[in-house]
Amino acid sequence: MVILGIETSCDETSLAFINTYGDTSVEPVSTLTYSQVDIHAKFGGVVPEVASRNHMLKIGPMFTDILNDTGIKAQDIDAVAVTNAPGLIGALFVGVSFAKGLGYALDIPVIPVHHLSGHILSAEISNPSLRPPYLALVISGGHTHIYTVTEPLSFSLHSRTIDDAAGEAFDKVAKMLGGVYPGGPFIETLASGGDPFAVKFPVAIKDSDNFSFSGLKTAVLNSISRADASKADIAASFQHTVAQTLTEKTFRIADRLGFKNIVVTGGVACNSVIRRIFSESAGNRNVFFPEKKLCNDNALMIAYAAWRLSAGKDLSQYKRLDFPAGDTMHEINV
Ligand code: KG4
Ligand code: ZN
Repeated sequence: MVILGIETSCDETSLAFINTYGDTSVEPVSTLTYSQVDIHAKFGGVVPEVASRNHMLKIGPMFTDILNDTGIKAQDIDAVAVTNAPGLIGALFVGVSFAKGLGYALDIPVIPVHHLSGHILSAEISNPSLRPPYLALVISGGHTHIYTVTEPLSFSLHSRTIDDAAGEAFDKVAKMLGGVYPGGPFIETLASGGDPFAVKFPVAIKDSDNFSFSGLKTAVLNSISRADASKADIAASFQHTVAQTLTEKTFRIADRLGFKNIVVTGGVACNSVIRRIFSESAGNRNVFFPEKKLCNDNALMIAYAAWRLSAGKDLSQYKRLDFPAGDTMHEINV
């Protein structure tokens, strides 16, 4: 079966094709992603209206391009998978409307996919024998969530941030240190020349299973204004504190709930220091990451998630095209 994935929830317009062979295996064919980061960098962050307009400009020509690149004809597509939530409402509408239009024109199913299920399941693309049960930490621009994932595929929210998401903290701290959006890569580069133990930053709500990063952000601001250390040292110490916090909490929860396999995913999982600290302190646990290019928003993870979510189901139920877009629910099983 040929599935077309569509992702437009934030500032990446992305299309991907996968071939699926029953419920047993899947083969990525092609992914085409247009990132708007350079456009939004001028504004210091994503401007929702600008994001929607650029998705609108790009999605049609990109669809033509991916058909030409792969030699797949529109008539060969068996199903469309599209991110329908959560995300920027106008941005989601572009992808969902395009998907429904294709579904109607080609008379094929359109499978709505929760963006976070895409991030979580992307670890399986890079580790093909990986299957639930596992604990999944999603660290992205909008989320710092821990889900328990079980088979038959089901996601249950265990922990979340009570204020800023990890990626949001990277973006805001980068701004304080004179960087541009997105902050994660800027901080990682700046931190590579710094001492991660130069400044001791506090870890908030240490004993809770939830996360909080707004106190850390304020501590960084105070440290910058006191000029406690160089910018590189502050960036390295901030990054190290985030990595330690994420690792310690995730491992503690995994041990208590009896999960040996742990998935770390989302844009912030691109960070090499976070990946290293997770891997080095894993002990007898197994930590799985998507390869770096799959950590940022992409349509391959959406196509793959649709394949996993629809396994064993009658696909004709997805021909109704009556699903909503834009709900910011944290619960994936809807
Ligand atoms: O998953 P994602 O691409 O989009 C959302 O669904 O939010 O994540 C974007 C976030 C941004 O906050 C960005 O600063 C962060 O991921 N990020 C990083 C790195 N690369 C991207 N954070 C830390 N280190 C990185 N190397
Ligand atoms: Zn994302």
